[in-house]
Amino acid sequence: MIDQQTINQIFDTADIVEVISDFVTLKKSGTNYKGLSPFSNEKTPSFMVSPAKGIFKDFSSGKGGNVVGFLMEHEKLSYPEALRYLANKYNIAIEEKELTAQEIQHKNERESLMAVTAYATTYFESQLQTEEGKAVGHSYFRNRGFRDDILKKFELGYSPEKRTAFTEEAGKNGYKKEYLVKTGLSIERDQYTFDRFAGRVIFPIHSLSGNVIGFGGRTLKSDKNIAKYLNSPESDIYHKSRVLYGLFQAKKTIVSAERCFLVEGYTDVISMHQAGIENVVASSGTALTTEQIRLIKRFTENITILYDGDEAGIKASFRGIDMILEEGMNVKVVMLPTGEDPDSYAHSHSSSEFQDYIQTSEQDFISFKTELLLADVQHDPIRRAQLITDIVKSVAVIPDGIMRSVFLKDCGLLLGVEEQVLYNEVNRIRQRKQEQQWRREQTGQNFRQDQLLTALPKQPVVPGFVENVFSEVEEREIIYFLLKFGNAILHMSDEDHTEISVAHYIIREIQNDELEFTNLIYKQIFEDVKDLIERGEEVAERHFVYHDHAGVRELAVDIFTSRYELSKVWKRKEAYVELPGENLGFEVPKTLLSYKMMVVEKALSQLRITLESTEKSKDIEALNQVIVRIQSLESVKRELSVGLGGRTIIR
Ligand code: CTP
Ligand code: MN
Repeated sequence: MIDQQTINQIFDTADIVEVISDFVTLKKSGTNYKGLSPFSNEKTPSFMVSPAKGIFKDFSSGKGGNVVGFLMEHEKLSYPEALRYLANKYNIAIEEKELTAQEIQHKNERESLMAVTAYATTYFESQLQTEEGKAVGHSYFRNRGFRDDILKKFELGYSPEKRTAFTEEAGKNGYKKEYLVKTGLSIERDQYTFDRFAGRVIFPIHSLSGNVIGFGGRTLKSDKNIAKYLNSPESDIYHKSRVLYGLFQAKKTIVSAERCFLVEGYTDVISMHQAGIENVVASSGTALTTEQIRLIKRFTENITILYDGDEAGIKASFRGIDMILEEGMNVKVVMLPTGEDPDSYAHSHSSSEFQDYIQTSEQDFISFKTELLLADVQHDPIRRAQLITDIVKSVAVIPDGIMRSVFLKDCGLLLGVEEQVLYNEVNRIRQRKQEQQWRREQTGQNFRQDQLLTALPKQPVVPGFVENVFSEVEEREIIYFLLKFGNAILHMSDEDHTEISVAHYIIREIQNDELEFTNLIYKQIFEDVKDLIERGEEVAERHFVYHDHAGVRELAVDIFTSRYELSKVWKRKEAYVELPGENLGFEVPKTLLSYKMMVVEKALSQLRITLESTEKSKDIEALNQVIVRIQSLESVKRELSVGLGGRTIIR
């Protein structure tokens, strides 16, 4: 643990230009420095360092942040590792926070477990060289076509047939039985301790930093009654749901290829490596977890799933993929030819053939799912309706509104349904989900948002009417355009051909309809932009990056450095959005429209609840009022659906 004072000292001392210069050749350019992006293979420099702001920004990949962020991104260090790196560079002594006795014990225990797994890895590896190992383990790998350099890279091994071979040898070398059992390498039953993996070939599972934390052991027998793979049990160092097989070996290539391939098994990962495709990880036969998805997201936002032809398996995986979409990642799928899995395909084709195959058969997930399910449905109208609901659910989890609308356009075409119908359905699902979320937060399970907002004044409750608490995502999108493109000019199609800035336009639209942001950070940003505009100033990046409020600062950095790679994701011509900002005249109104829709629908659903209780009370006067209100909102909704009520923008 590094104490806060030392952290501050590190930040104060570290010179961002000097630190980055160790990795990138920088040239002075005005008050900034410029260089070739270390995150892509560019020819013209788009990588900027601002010593004044203490930040870097890579325009080719969209990455950006402070000096520690650079080290984390470029060197793949964790936060404390990056701090230690800097402390070392600038000779700052690290004052470690004193650990409690319990923390020390916990740390020692983990280290002991890790020592055992490290020992076991070398032991199993060395067993490939013994007479038994050569004849059984090594020849098995050889028969599968694994080269020796690949065995080494993945530290593959063999556990001898004799049921106590490993346990005994480890004991002789001073490893305590307690730790052998806790790592699951040995099993204790009655008085007897024996090897878990005896007679199996061994696939060590690495942590992100390359330590072995668990093992998979494959049987060499074809007996159906024997489990094909045995895996390490959960332990203090091995949590199955937080590990992806192969990520340690893949992470560098994932970053440079800007993509991660996801396969099913150990052997798929290894064979693809051997074929020269190194940005690949496996979920190891289990359902994908959110933690695993976030692990991948640290390195890329693009996932391609490689499927073998098993249709039942593919359908079973759809839920997991919705989780990936929910994390805001771009998901593509590749279907391998019938009878092939990545392992077999890699062995029967060259690396470039494999790459070509992926390139030509890659499809985005939503349309893949739509087509696959559509084939089943044929002309059955009920199942067709179910299918539409199903697809819409997948789209509804995607956080980015622009992406959602691009997908809905595609799906509308595939399904023969009007885009707007799908759009409304998506909004309905999102609203319901946010209500559930909100209720969970109300019951006290989740106070994250509250904690974030404590520094800002509490929002006054708007008496009676629209309580638009569930428009978080839509609000964020508006803030995104407000900050990132606030100064860009829109050209209106009215008589005077008015020119108006995006910020001005958004403020006018929000104020005209007397709407108010519910997220207090967004509200603060909105108010600040309004002040700036009223004073005749621009929406200046630094105003927000240096804001007094940490929440505003964080969000601003996030937005100013966010990477939106839509143009890479949808290369197809029919996509009307290339990159956010390229067609602001379309994007800004559409975003506002979607926000207003959300507000109106929320108000409507509240009014329907009121309607029910008013009906019970038999107060005719009140009932009429509610009905009139509903009718007027319904007509607003219709108007919103049609477009922006006649106002148009040319560009
Ligand atoms: N798996 C497991 N336990 C099993 C079967 C499978 O843990 N009894 C996991 C393993 O991680 C395996 C993955 O699920 O890698 C995929 O299973 P499968 O396709 O059957 O294994 P392969 O990796 O293809 O192994 P092989 O090619 O040697 O059959
Ligand atoms: Mn296989």
